[in-house]
Amino acid sequence: MRKKLLAGNWKMNLVPTEARALIAALRAEIDRDSATLAKDREVMVAPPAILIPSVAQALAGSSIFLGAQNMHFEDKGAFTGEVSPPMLKSYGVTHVILGHSERRHVFNESDELINKKVLAALKHRLVPILCVGETQEEHDGGRALEVVLRQLERGLEGVSSEAVAGVILAYEPVWAIGTGRTATPEQAESIHGALRGVILERYDRAHADQVRILYGGSVTADNVDSLISKPDIDGALVGGASLKADSFARIVKARTH
Ligand code: PGA
Repeated sequence: MRKKLLAGNWKMNLVPTEARALIAALRAEIDRDSATLAKDREVMVAPPAILIPSVAQALAGSSIFLGAQNMHFEDKGAFTGEVSPPMLKSYGVTHVILGHSERRHVFNESDELINKKVLAALKHRLVPILCVGETQEEHDGGRALEVVLRQLERGLEGVSSEAVAGVILAYEPVWAIGTGRTATPEQAESIHGALRGVILERYDRAHADQVRILYGGSVTADNVDSLISKPDIDGALVGGASLKADSFARIVKARTH
């Protein structure tokens, strides 16, 4: 059984006092049910890089995983402004979001660069959360599938069959991010099925069954149940609704059927 992953992407929000307060409130909601929740799900938060040390402290002893929103693929060097995999690891980061649509479209990250980051994450035993998703224009032009499959193929270039089960995918249609417009559970399920099909073709059935595929894009406490009840939707990557303890705690406790 694939455990669901409910992951919060804080993007460029919160300062340390707010971050610590959010973690404290979340832990109050989640930690007491953690034994029950742990049976079929995992929880992760991805703060901005500069908040990682204080969030790591606030999470001490919690079952909530600590993620990063991005990283460079090199271990160290002359890369002003960047953060390396060993730096993240040293603070207990376990997951890293890669190829988020804002990285692709605002910061012009290419499939080739994202692929280097995926390989670097795997090398350092960080779980890459590889994001794919089509823009509004591509969606309207009926090209959603073509776009996400290309992003997936290129993102996984050179990923071995031993490593692929440790990759998490996230389907995030760009037109649904921060817009309040969600893909319907049926729309998302059909793309997720196609993504899993690529894993099946490139690797095999066992690996395709293991890879988790999250949905992201305007996930809220109100729509999360119907999305993650779908068999190929293995969790959610949540932006806006992960910034409030009550809404994210409700999302974490989503009903899966
Ligand atoms: P949103 O963001 O939930 O605010 O739409 C999702 C994401 O970008 O990961």
